[in-house]
Amino acid sequence: MSRHIALDDRTIEELSDCASRLTGFSREAILPEAIRRAAIALLKAQPTWTVDDLLRRTADRDGEVAHALCQAVSVGETYFFRHPDHFRFLADNLVPALLRAGRPALRAWSAGCASGEEAFSLAACLLESSAGSGLAVSVLGTDLLERNLEIARKGVYGLWSRRPSGPVLHSLFHPAARGQVDQVEINGPVREVARFELHNLLDPMEGEFEVIFCRNVLVYFAPEASLIAVRHLAAALAPGGALVFGSMDISVPPPGLIADGLPELQIFRRPLSFAAPAAPIPLPPIPAPQSGPRLVPMEVEPVPLHLKALVFIERGDKTASEQTLLELTSRVPGYVPGILERALLHVRLGQRNAAVTMMREVLRRTEKLPLDALLSGPEPLPVSFYRDSAETFLRRSTK
Ligand SMILES: C[S@@+](CC[C@H](N)C(=O)[O-])C[C@H]1O[C@@H](n2cnc3c(N)ncnc32)[C@H](O)[C@@H]1O
Repeated sequence: MSRHIALDDRTIEELSDCASRLTGFSREAILPEAIRRAAIALLKAQPTWTVDDLLRRTADRDGEVAHALCQAVSVGETYFFRHPDHFRFLADNLVPALLRAGRPALRAWSAGCASGEEAFSLAACLLESSAGSGLAVSVLGTDLLERNLEIARKGVYGLWSRRPSGPVLHSLFHPAARGQVDQVEINGPVREVARFELHNLLDPMEGEFEVIFCRNVLVYFAPEASLIAVRHLAAALAPGGALVFGSMDISVPPPGLIADGLPELQIFRRPLSFAAPAAPIPLPPIPAPQSGPRLVPMEVEPVPLHLKALVFIERGDKTASEQTLLELTSRVPGYVPGILERALLHVRLGQRNAAVTMMREVLRRTEKLPLDALLSGPEPLPVSFYRDSAETFLRRSTK
């Protein structure tokens, strides 16, 4: 007979706290239902454990429990050449600059690499853009979950890893052996320069890298955990190197680094002349959501709900993303980042009319705001960013 397991809210709270400490995730980005499912699965797999045993093991950071909790909160969404402009920046700007500077090698780190698509995209991009230079290329992919790294080490991928939003900018795979319909295998030279290891971003990283990608990971982190991870990432960046984040990942630029490229690309460089900076050069911080002098205030704090929606979007949960964004825009109708997020979701779902309506709403809500005023969101961004995004979409969709 199957065991009936009831878990009260206090137990779920304790387990969620632990998951947050283990991963760096903010409590808003942890779904109680996912924690509940993981706990029930653990208790079913270990019939002699009581709920108290589970909590004790959680407090002791028992390996099996820690792994199950990390797996429950983790979002492994990824695909080849995601955010293609980052790869264009590497090929057109960074690699030529590093070649001119006579760097001894091109070493890249894909931090929070999930199942490896980002690490292999980096390898293909660096190999192709440095071809003929004689420079050794290597890519390290790290993740919190061994399960992800096992997929990466196999180097065989299906259709979901090759989405239209990630154009194949550099050749990196070929059709897999017969019998594996729609599967591709990473090309030998790309696979040879990549390796994968377990690593938690809350721990320091040994080594130095010319390129570090840490994209779509810190968006889920609590602010303190994010600062720790950013410090570790920046410490591993070689002179002249670039540290690259997703557009929603950080709200304060990494100390000692200099922004490069378009602001929405979130690329930060270590100046070449600073072989080992004794003291980081402080950059003027981007104002935190409540503190900036020109920040536009909100009646209700919408960012946690926005982050929750991002978790659903990353998980590919269409219904939950739509519901959460609908709740967000109903509860805080003036929250422009939420309106743009809803518009973008409609675009991805092919719902053109709904997308047009939402993009027009972005324009309407921002028409009286100064272009350089910062809007509160997971990341403070200027009004011009929202207006440009909406105008570009509307221009293209009415052509
Ligand atoms: C959404 S995926 C992003 C994958 C890839 N960077 C991309 O942008 O396509 C986030 C990955 O970060 C990993 N992750 C989450 N917390 C982490 C931590 N504390 N240390 C290392 N990796 C972590 C997750 O396991 C997951 O595979």
